[in-house]
Amino acid sequence: MPAKWRWLLLPLGGWLALMIGALGWASFNGVMHVTSTNDFCYSCHIGSDTIVEEYQASTHFNNEHGFVATCADCHIPHEFVPKLITKIKATGDVYHQIAGTITLENFESHRPALAQGVWDDMTENDSRECRNCHSPDLWQTSLQSTRAQNSHNPAFWAEQDLTCISCHKGLAHALPQ
Ligand code: HEC
Ligand code: HEC
Ligand code: HEC
Ligand code: HEC
Repeated sequence: MPAKWRWLLLPLGGWLALMIGALGWASFNGVMHVTSTNDFCYSCHIGSDTIVEEYQASTHFNNEHGFVATCADCHIPHEFVPKLITKIKATGDVYHQIAGTITLENFESHRPALAQGVWDDMTENDSRECRNCHSPDLWQTSLQSTRAQNSHNPAFWAEQDLTCISCHKGLAHALPQ
């Protein structure tokens, strides 16, 4: 190669690295996206527990507005680092799926621990995923039911260390027996 062309190698190398990086990023994002769809969750959770059936009967799926909160809306954070941690933790469930640890028959016996894990996370992060859709700064409490108005008092929550999940357990699924 003539010496005068050699300088081209440097930017070419740079471009190549950028393209490979971009491809990697695109497929990484692709994986993140596909693994956040309801169909993906259904692929394991139908048949091995009763989670999906309960969810489909709940207000967050079944309502007059045609509005659907997906599994990921409640269970996968939007923020990059917490999202990555959730995805990595969830790979443990792939093991249990393959090993067949949890079945329709024994699901109820595992359920208290599984629910408690979700409650602990939501308590710790102040029900972050709920707040992606519900904003106590914006909601019109005057339009809410009297029971809701009596309970929806953020100053009282702060005092008592309460968050959405403290009062709204068993919202999209049955409570453990
Ligand atoms: C490869 C199979 C598989 C897929 C796909 C899957 N899960 Fe699971 N998941 C499991 C298994 C197995 C468990 C253990 C308990 C059970 O069967 O309910 C579990 C447990 C959970 C739990 C309880 C807490 C925990 O992490 O252990 C949550 C929440 C959950 N899954 C949500 C989801 C959501 C949301 C999706 C879709 C984004 C999803 N899962 C997709 C297999 C899977
Ligand atoms: C509106 C929010 C919301 C949606 C939507 C939702 N979940 Fe949950 N999920 C929760 C909460 C809150 C818990 C903790 C237990 C409880 O309060 O019912 C939970 C608990 C679970 C558990 C642990 C077992 C149990 O019974 O507690 C699994 C597994 C799970 N969810 C999977 C899913 C899957 C799969 C979907 C979609 C088919 C889904 N969730 C949709 C809020 C939600
Ligand atoms: C993706 C957006 C979204 C997320 C995430 C979400 N919600 Fe909702 N939620 C809604 C919408 C929209 C409605 C009204 C549904 C309707 O009645 O048409 C609703 C209804 C409700 C209701 C009244 C109906 C009922 O089932 O009692 C409660 C309580 C509630 N949400 C609490 C929560 C809590 C707690 C969380 C977090 C665990 C949460 N929501 C997560 C959008 C969401
Ligand atoms: C101290 C307990 C408590 C806390 C904390 C709490 N709620 Fe509620 N919420 C209630 C009660 C009680 C109702 C009324 C339920 C009923 O009438 O069946 C209610 C009702 C609702 C409704 C339905 C509104 C209506 O008109 O009935 C939504 C939506 C809701 N809550 C979302 C949330 C969200 C999101 C959070 C966190 C930002 C939250 N709540 C925190 C107790 C609480």
